[in-house]
Amino acid sequence: MLEKLEQVRQECLNCQKCPLSKTRTNVVFSDGKPNSNIVLIGEAPGANEDLQGKPFVGRAGQLLDKIFESVGLSREKDIYICNTLKCRPPENRDPLPSEKEACRNYLDAQLNILKPKIILLCGRVALTSFLPNASAISKVRGKWFDGPNGSKMMPIFHPSYLLRNPIARPGSPKALMWEDIKEIKRRYDEILNGND
Ligand code: URA
Repeated sequence: MLEKLEQVRQECLNCQKCPLSKTRTNVVFSDGKPNSNIVLIGEAPGANEDLQGKPFVGRAGQLLDKIFESVGLSREKDIYICNTLKCRPPENRDPLPSEKEACRNYLDAQLNILKPKIILLCGRVALTSFLPNASAISKVRGKWFDGPNGSKMMPIFHPSYLLRNPIARPGSPKALMWEDIKEIKRRYDEILNGND
């Protein structure tokens, strides 16, 4: 499994399939634990990620780590993290459909090799990549959907959205994220205990 993943990574590091290959500093393939039951899919690398070659290392990434840590999960031990796009769109604009299409094989290969039981669709771009007809993320977050290879997928808020809406009152994005992360941990424990 790890050799196959490494092959895909090497291919991705040399990718020239879309114009973002001309402006990137680094390809951002993944971080975290490859043989994990949880894969989190974000949107695309930002400036920090492009410089370091790792997903979710800026402010949003630090918040994401804290959210997972609050239920005892860590990116080193429990989660594999990647994005719908492996290269940074200039000025952090939304990924173009042509860029998503060019990059999609890498993401599908990651999921087909890893076969995670839980896939977290982090933010609108990841959500619409898998559930194109879904309503707004605020309507579907926290719900389980059937995903590839028998997995369950849950849309969750993007941490950048939580940074823009930091107040934690009942019903706020932050409070809802707390509910979602507890449900994710519950399901993860169920899988670890063989009750899935
Ligand atoms: N936002 C994302 O969606 N992905 C990253 O890797 C960083 C910020």
